[in-house]
Amino acid sequence: MSHEKIEKNIGLMALLIVIVISFGGLVEITPLFFLKETTEPVKGLKPYTALQLEGRDIYIREGCYTCHSQMIRPFRAETERYGHYSVAGEFVYDHPFQWGSKRTGPDLARVGGRYSDDWHRVHLMNPRDVVPESNMPSFPWLARNTIDDELTPKKLQVMRTLGVPYTDEDINNSSSSVNGKTEIDALIAYLQVMGTSIKNRR
Ligand code: HEC
Repeated sequence: MSHEKIEKNIGLMALLIVIVISFGGLVEITPLFFLKETTEPVKGLKPYTALQLEGRDIYIREGCYTCHSQMIRPFRAETERYGHYSVAGEFVYDHPFQWGSKRTGPDLARVGGRYSDDWHRVHLMNPRDVVPESNMPSFPWLARNTIDDELTPKKLQVMRTLGVPYTDEDINNSSSSVNGKTEIDALIAYLQVMGTSIKNRR
């Protein structure tokens, strides 16, 4: 009888399906919040410096994530090309993380140290100067704009609220450490630290 009721009432059926599926989801997802492997930083992971954090904001503002992922999957084809696969503990200070899902350009998870600062500067100003076939856009304004250091301490403070272990000193010194820097300086500082906490890159 009750089974017939469910089958003939689509609203009730939908509700019950949602309840059943959410149990499945909870069983899979909840344990992840308590696993050390997914919640603790990998050894050697440091919070972003003020300049790197400002660079990360520019990365987000310019939509770099719409063409670049930061997530190397554990497949031979990926690790041969990009280096050690990404692990959760590398991203615990990333709020929000920039894993992305679109790869018009290459994955950037381990781009830190792969090129010189000068290479990045030329590449961001006009990618075709170093990679003739590139279809990445130019970002020349990054070299003209200086970082607004007024909000920097606030940004670090917000990150601290989210669990990034910044000290009072880090926060107090953050404005002066980015003062006078251009946006391209900040973005390059961010690119150069990417993925460097795991050293066994190829
Ligand atoms: C429209 C898509 C697109 C956007 C937006 C974009 N890129 Fe790219 N990017 C590419 C492509 C395609 C390549 C490969 C060709 C090249 O090296 O220029 C690339 C290459 C790169 C490389 C070299 C990676 C390597 O391993 O060789 C870096 C670093 C990079 N991009 C950074 C950025 C940053 C930072 C931004 C945002 C300011 C950005 N890209 C925005 C498409 C894009």
